[in-house]
Amino acid sequence: MSILEAVGNAGVSVMTSCEEGICGTCETTVLSGEIDHRDSVLNDQERAAGSTMMICVSRAQGDRLVLDL
Ligand code: FES
Repeated sequence: MSILEAVGNAGVSVMTSCEEGICGTCETTVLSGEIDHRDSVLNDQERAAGSTMMICVSRAQGDRLVLDL
């Protein structure tokens, strides 16, 4: 299950479009946690900053990820 699906199941509505990690519509602020970036939107610098992610395809790399939804 993607994060997008999980937050949807929890009743949180997030804007989406491609759901393939290429448009950037679902970009979400990350407050803490390690990210496994799987999108084609962010550059290397943005990935390294770890402050945002595309929740349609990217995942948590650790046990806990805190998002600003
Ligand atoms: S919906 Fe397009 S990158 Fe997530």
